[in-house]
Amino acid sequence: MSKQRLLDGSGRGAHSGAVPSSAAYDATGVRTTTPWISDLAAGIREVLRRDLTPHMTACQVAELLRPSLGRPGLLSAAQQEGCAETYRQHLLYAEPDGSFSVVALVWLPGQRTPIHDHLSWCVAGVHQGQETEHRYRPAGDDPAAGLVRDGSTVNPTGALSAIAPPGDIHRVCNTGPTKAISLHIYGADISRLGSSVRRTYDAPHDEP
Ligand SMILES: [Fe+2]
Repeated sequence: MSKQRLLDGSGRGAHSGAVPSSAAYDATGVRTTTPWISDLAAGIREVLRRDLTPHMTACQVAELLRPSLGRPGLLSAAQQEGCAETYRQHLLYAEPDGSFSVVALVWLPGQRTPIHDHLSWCVAGVHQGQETEHRYRPAGDDPAAGLVRDGSTVNPTGALSAIAPPGDIHRVCNTGPTKAISLHIYGADISRLGSSVRRTYDAPHDEP
């Protein structure tokens, strides 16, 4: 069963897995001195101390991210850089104990993820531009039957969502005319794993 909860009417699912990753964090690889990241990390630690379910953790962490979405000056120029070949992930922060990470994903028009799901709870918010999420479910009990699309949502700046696996199979696309940037928080150590993606899936036969 999907554990996705729409926090603002959007259907945005958190995602990751982009390459290449930037080195937009400090020389230790785990901390930045950016005040908003420090404040956000402190809030996330407080949520984790509550020992909630993964879904409830994601929902409460999402509320911490909400005030940052669309705020001017939040990211450096380097953290907003895209890549012509694929969407780009910038690691902004990784908690030293590996319990959570914060990344920015930058999408040029037309770029998209593979269809995928996640290893951990995830929060995603659109910081700039517009992203479209397509959601999927298994076509039947036989894994060989593949997937069918289960809905799509266009998410503008400020859209926010929280998910926890299982049931979080999706794909994200920048279907807008300009660069899109989304902020993601994962309950995983992205500095070590490189990505929160559990696995990728073949597209349905009727989908390119
Ligand atoms: Fe995702």
